[in-house]
Amino acid sequence: MTVYLKKQFLKSAAFFCFFLLFNSSIKSQSTLNQSDPFYYLQNVENRSSISLDGRWDIIVDPLETGFYSYRFQERKDGFFINQQMKEPDELVEYNFEKGPKLSVPGDWNTQSEKLYYYENTVWYKKDFTLNKKQGKRYFIHFGAVNYQAIVYVNKKKVGVHEGGYTSFDFDVTDFVTNDKNLVVVKVENKRKADRIPTLNIDWWNYGGITRSVSIIETNETFIYDYSFITNNKNGEIVNGWVQLNGINSANKEVTITIPEITLLQKTKTDKTGKATFSFQKNLTLWSPENPKLYEVKLKYDEDEITDKIGFRTIAVNGNDILLNGKSIFLRGISIHEEAPFKSGRVTNADECRVLLNWAKEMGCNFIRLAHYPHSSAMIKIAEEMGLLVWSEIPVYWTVQFENPAVLQLAYNQLDEMITRDKNRANIILWSVANETPNNENRVTFLTKLIAHARNADNSRLITAALDTQTEEDGFKTIKDPLGQYLDVIGVNSYCGWYGGKPNDCKNMRWKNTYTKPMIMSEMGGGALQGLHGKENERWTEEYQDAVYKNNLEMLTHIPFLRGVSPWILTDFLSPRRPLPEIQNDYNRKGLISNRGIKKKSFYTLQNFYEKIVLGEIKF
Ligand code: GCU
Repeated sequence: MTVYLKKQFLKSAAFFCFFLLFNSSIKSQSTLNQSDPFYYLQNVENRSSISLDGRWDIIVDPLETGFYSYRFQERKDGFFINQQMKEPDELVEYNFEKGPKLSVPGDWNTQSEKLYYYENTVWYKKDFTLNKKQGKRYFIHFGAVNYQAIVYVNKKKVGVHEGGYTSFDFDVTDFVTNDKNLVVVKVENKRKADRIPTLNIDWWNYGGITRSVSIIETNETFIYDYSFITNNKNGEIVNGWVQLNGINSANKEVTITIPEITLLQKTKTDKTGKATFSFQKNLTLWSPENPKLYEVKLKYDEDEITDKIGFRTIAVNGNDILLNGKSIFLRGISIHEEAPFKSGRVTNADECRVLLNWAKEMGCNFIRLAHYPHSSAMIKIAEEMGLLVWSEIPVYWTVQFENPAVLQLAYNQLDEMITRDKNRANIILWSVANETPNNENRVTFLTKLIAHARNADNSRLITAALDTQTEEDGFKTIKDPLGQYLDVIGVNSYCGWYGGKPNDCKNMRWKNTYTKPMIMSEMGGGALQGLHGKENERWTEEYQDAVYKNNLEMLTHIPFLRGVSPWILTDFLSPRRPLPEIQNDYNRKGLISNRGIKKKSFYTLQNFYEKIVLGEIKF
């Protein structure tokens, strides 16, 4: 949604709230918007909530019998009413309680052999009790559901969400009751040409309620979203806003305190419930070397929210990237949200920590979280550890660039990613695409998406990973037309793996038609951990290491290179990788195996990063 639309939306929302003043009834959030990315409960971890994580009853429903009648019409008596057989002659052909169960959060593919390849509908059902209080509001919040979620509370549809990797919530105040409640979710993860991502991907299409679910309790009018942006390279000036949600949100006093810098600022909301603020202080800026976070408190009436906020600036200057006004080289690694040691989706903070500790052990100051928004836990822990982040939406390969509905999907996923993570200092890059084919429809689609991203957040750099380099008089030349619209140009190049011999790569030279920084966003090759042989034997660790050694040598000859995030930290499941004895459904480009065992190239990259830190290799 562009800023203009947002303002229009706000005006109508303000009118709606104004209308409510006379109406005195509180319209439930979900009647205002179906998980509109603009309405977002910021910082749910710090709110009063009931967790719905744990074992849920499920029904596997490949024909979507629980949703459609035999005439393929949406049923009013679908599985979401959880019908119980009361009379001996009653016909009820499903039963949640007697069926299998799945753990939430978690994908279903790695929880059940029968669901390994499953790409359709699974119904989830959970009972919960609630001590519903007068004057309070209740939201059901999902960290992520892949791909489409239709949510029912006490047999009533409360909302629909599409997109497998971003959080969403619905106001269920009017739907929950005091004491026993029922939540049913229809989860469907079909791959479709007009979805994002589209039909062909190179990762496992894990379906399910893959991140945590909770019931959040708030006051009738409360702090639901806020933003802090550091506005100049010395980091002294911070601008921000706080958005209240509720019928009494206009002209209210909000207090912002940061005790460590003796900041206490009061500000008033406007008629839309938004309060702006700005302060000038001598701050310790966040950086990988010193990931400084300040305790921030926001208060309205009895509602108080705390968060840990880092302050820093990021900018480009010609071919350079400046963090807090200083040139920085991004020593990175790409990471899929694949659980270490066991595969499947990452489901908890401990698994995030394992992956991030491996990146730190490697000598990284940067991670590319591919190819979709990872969990907020992953980003927050990376922020505490001093890891800069490239975050992206899965506009991957051949989405339907000519389809306006697909562009809207991309807008929504971009908004939801930015809305959720806009206060994380370590995120410096929003990426809008990965390896998309260079044609007119794609450039039109992506330039709109880039403009949308800048509207939503002009404090960060916009990038995309491009794989359309051309050969010109012996140089690999970056001239993809999209480059003119990006701040930083990501380049995926697999010299020695998808073309050429590893030993030729060190002689490859690059040209950039744009005076912009480049990040080698992917490079590398595969190896089966523990398979050894000669450097010319594909799948051996020695072959992979020859790819790394020669490509890393090549990087030192790219004058406009400002970072690298080789592909990839760990082996990961992908249906594109069936080679028996070697792949067995795993993409083997990891520097660490799916069992957590490091390959030779882990140490080659670690050594390369160490030499950069010591100044023995200069970029
Ligand atoms: C591509 C793509 C990755 C993929 C990788 C590979 O560059 O961006 O998603 O996994 O190459 O082929 O292993």
